[in-house]
Amino acid sequence: MNTQPIGIFDSGIGGTSIWKEITSLLPYENTIYLADSKNAPYGEKSAEKIIEFSVKNTELLLEKGCKIIVVACNTATTNAIEILRSKYDVPFIGIEPAIKPAALQTLTNSIGILATKGTLSSSLFSKTSEKFTSTIKIIEQEGKGIVTLIESDKLVSVEMTLLLHKYLNPMLEQRIDHLVLGCTHYSYLFQQIQKIVGENVQIIDSGLATAKQTNTILEKNNLKNFTSDASKHQFYINSEKDVLESILKEVSLEYTVNKLDF
Ligand code: DGL
Repeated sequence: MNTQPIGIFDSGIGGTSIWKEITSLLPYENTIYLADSKNAPYGEKSAEKIIEFSVKNTELLLEKGCKIIVVACNTATTNAIEILRSKYDVPFIGIEPAIKPAALQTLTNSIGILATKGTLSSSLFSKTSEKFTSTIKIIEQEGKGIVTLIESDKLVSVEMTLLLHKYLNPMLEQRIDHLVLGCTHYSYLFQQIQKIVGENVQIIDSGLATAKQTNTILEKNNLKNFTSDASKHQFYINSEKDVLESILKEVSLEYTVNKLDF
């Protein structure tokens, strides 16, 4: 079982930011990554649809023999992880917007959160944010259109710059000193966002924390792979491969990218 792969899925290429953290922290582990780009963006779909996609992705990863599933998508985690955990026996790791560290560290008592509509409207997110709204101001902003631009190879583009200014400037006017990135696609915008918000705003991204949590859960379940054979990394995508290949081009590990209808 220990040599079986870690299964990872996202609505597209955003979760590769988590995959990169996992493979650098856990170099002996094999992985299978599913990019459900055909159905992106999840953030603008109903909770029922997000659950349906998450179940479909999980079943495919389980068919491929995965020992643990990382839901590398805030939208899928906040809408579907409880159902996935109740339906399947394998351990699940999710990713949620890191409100808590931002809320504990803020000095201006004002923090921003950029996430999808699906995440911001979920009950899991409301439950977490409600714990802090009596003491600090949380400015929620839907990043409408950002995921679609990234999936269309427009990570660095005039359209992206315009959208980022539109979403971030009102937060700056409300004196945020922390900005939580609540979508795995947004990790790829870190530098562009930092340029707009300036050095006085700390950007919080949960990629590394998710990889550490994956390690903890593997250890707890005695599922860690200690064989030092070269690890195998397989990517499956259900739309064109180009954008995924371009986001992986600087990766030094060996991997394969396959188009698959799922
Ligand atoms: N990467 C997904 C997330 O973390 C993007 C969601 C979407 O497809 O809208 O929320």
